[in-house]
This record gives sequence, structure tokens and C-alpha cells, in this order.
Amino acid sequence: MANALIVYASRTGETENIANLIAEGIRIAGHSAQVKNANDIKSEKELSGPDALVLGSATYHGEMLPAMKKLLFMAEKADLAGKPGGSFGAFGWSGEAPGRIFDTMQHIFKMDMVSGPLTLKSSSLEGGIQMAQQYGRDLAARMPG
Ligand SMILES: Cc1cc2nc3c(=O)[nH]c(=O)nc-3n(C[C@H](O)[C@H](O)[C@H](O)COP(=O)(O)O)c2cc1C
Repeated sequence: MANALIVYASRTGETENIANLIAEGIRIAGHSAQVKNANDIKSEKELSGPDALVLGSATYHGEMLPAMKKLLFMAEKADLAGKPGGSFGAFGWSGEAPGRIFDTMQHIFKMDMVSGPLTLKSSSLEGGIQMAQQYGRDLAARMPG
């Protein structure tokens, strides 16, 4: 069983909900998943331990939250090349954050990314629960046996 870490930055809890649903999808697929707030990650060692990493932030004023921006600079020092990765976030109308995170994970960290970021207006709308769980399953399919 491989282990995934899901880290979120969220102001009102929507992105946190999506993080928990992605974790459920990973567990349904038979792997273990832990969910953490970006504010609680204190060193890059916490990011380099897990077999897969999923990072998410809500979008505010066209940007990711500061805690996720800080975490991405920290993650640059963790050796993440080749590991399965994904990104996600809740949004209202433009939703830039998940795409920015995804691009950084792909181009700078050189991770093995699932196909595209997961952006949801709310986990409780229009099949959001299933989409987030499926994203977790898609990631799990890339995790080591
Ligand atoms: C002050 C403010 C600014 C926002 N700016 C954006 C924005 O630029 N683009 C967007 O798509 N959503 C924007 N939103 C909507 C949030 O992304 C949305 O409410 C999201 O569900 C919040 O997720 P969270 O609960 O994880 O913080 C904004 C919301 C507020 C209150």
C-alpha cells in the first residue's frame, strides 16, 4: 500500500472539503491518504516522504492563497521528480489557483501529473463529490503497487 499526502489552503472550507473527497477516492482504490492544512507543513521533509502529493488552493483575487505559495517554494527543495501528483481548488468564477499549482508541479518539480487540475465551484454541486473521488482514483492508479 502506497501513501499519498493531500495539502490544502482554504479560507472558508470548500477546498478543504475537496481535499477530503480526493483522499476518500485514494482510499477506495486501496491506498492510504493523509490530509493536511498548508499552514501545518513546517519543512520540505514532510513533502518528500509520501509516494504521491496533491496540492490545492482556493482562488482569491486571481491568485492562490499565500500559504500555498509559500509551500510551493518549500516543495522546490523536496525531491518530487517522477512522483504522482495532482492539484485542485474551489473557485467562484475564474479559478486560476489550481492551474498555477499544476503547472509548477509539472514544470518545476517534474512530477508525474494526472490529467489536468480539478476545479470545482463547490464539492456539493453537480456531481462534485464523484468528480473529486474520481480524481483521487486517477491519482491512485499512478501510485506504486
Ligand atoms: C474577496 C474574494 C475574492 C475572490 N476572488 C476570486 C477570484 O479571483 N476568482 C475566483 O474564481 N473566485 C474568487 N473568489 C471565490 C472563492 O474562490 C470561492 O468562494 C471558493 O469557494 C473559496 O474556497 P475556500 O472555501 O476553500 O476558501 C473570491 C472570493 C472572495 C470572498
